[in-house]
Amino acid sequence: MPQTRTNAFLVSLALAALSDSAIADGAVIALHGNDRGVPACVTCHGALGEGMPANGFPKLTGQNAEYLQAQLAAFADGRRGNAMMTPIAQTLSADERVAVARYFAGMSGATASAETSRDSTATGAHLATLGRWSEGLPACVQCHGALGAGVGTAFPALAGQSSLYIENQLRGWQLGRRPPGPLGLMKVIASKLSAADIQEVASYFSTLPAGDPVPSAKR
Ligand code: HEC
Ligand code: HEC
Repeated sequence: MPQTRTNAFLVSLALAALSDSAIADGAVIALHGNDRGVPACVTCHGALGEGMPANGFPKLTGQNAEYLQAQLAAFADGRRGNAMMTPIAQTLSADERVAVARYFAGMSGATASAETSRDSTATGAHLATLGRWSEGLPACVQCHGALGAGVGTAFPALAGQSSLYIENQLRGWQLGRRPPGPLGLMKVIASKLSAADIQEVASYFSTLPAGDPVPSAKR
């Protein structure tokens, strides 16, 4: 039965190829990088992915995997630009990006390095939880979840995030340096924030304890 033998041969070839090709391992990439020059993610994002707030290196731990993966894809194809992240994302394969995004998303128990609030003001809390409807600015928590814990795959967590990083992102949208993202929502939001608003709302979220993200709303 030559046909069956050919099939069996093809199957064993395919299996051999599978076991030979390195299956992307998120933990290995996070802790050691890859053999094409990508550095260990933890050198900048912290041993537990908790971020380095003072440098504006964001916390990745507990962030939604699809969100992280989408950001890596945006760095890789140039939609989102950053001198440090662009070459790194470009030197990861698509499989590696998925694996390392899942690794950080799945890590729990890493608390963000508690940021000492510069001056967690009433304005920051007000914007975050109530918005400013006179200017059509919704509350941040309407999309980012109660206490900024993140919602589903599209709305990232903000709680416990580096305030400098949050500020950089909001300014990035104002200056057109960060791609508008889903429905251009953040570009519109950022355009309604003053420099002082940005500092205060960033400071507010950075001091909140990272909580469990809210699962996607039922569709
Ligand atoms: C040399 C320091 C450095 C290294 C190493 C590094 N990153 Fe980053 N990463 C940054 C900086 C800085 C930013 C913020 C960029 C910005 O402001 O847009 C960032 C942002 C990110 C973001 C976007 C987070 C968000 O909330 O949108 C992801 C995802 C990410 N990095 C993943 C990784 C992964 C995965 C690795 C390892 C393969 C890695 N990074 C290695 C510095 C680094
Ligand atoms: C109408 C929904 C909506 C509201 C309200 C909203 N956001 Fe967002 N936000 C988003 C979406 C969607 C993203 C993801 C953007 C992307 O994928 O690039 C995001 C991303 C962000 C990020 C980037 C996080 C990261 O890890 O890189 C920051 C910072 C942020 N929002 C801050 C705020 C602040 C501060 C407010 C309130 C002043 C706010 N957002 C209100 C929808 C919203």
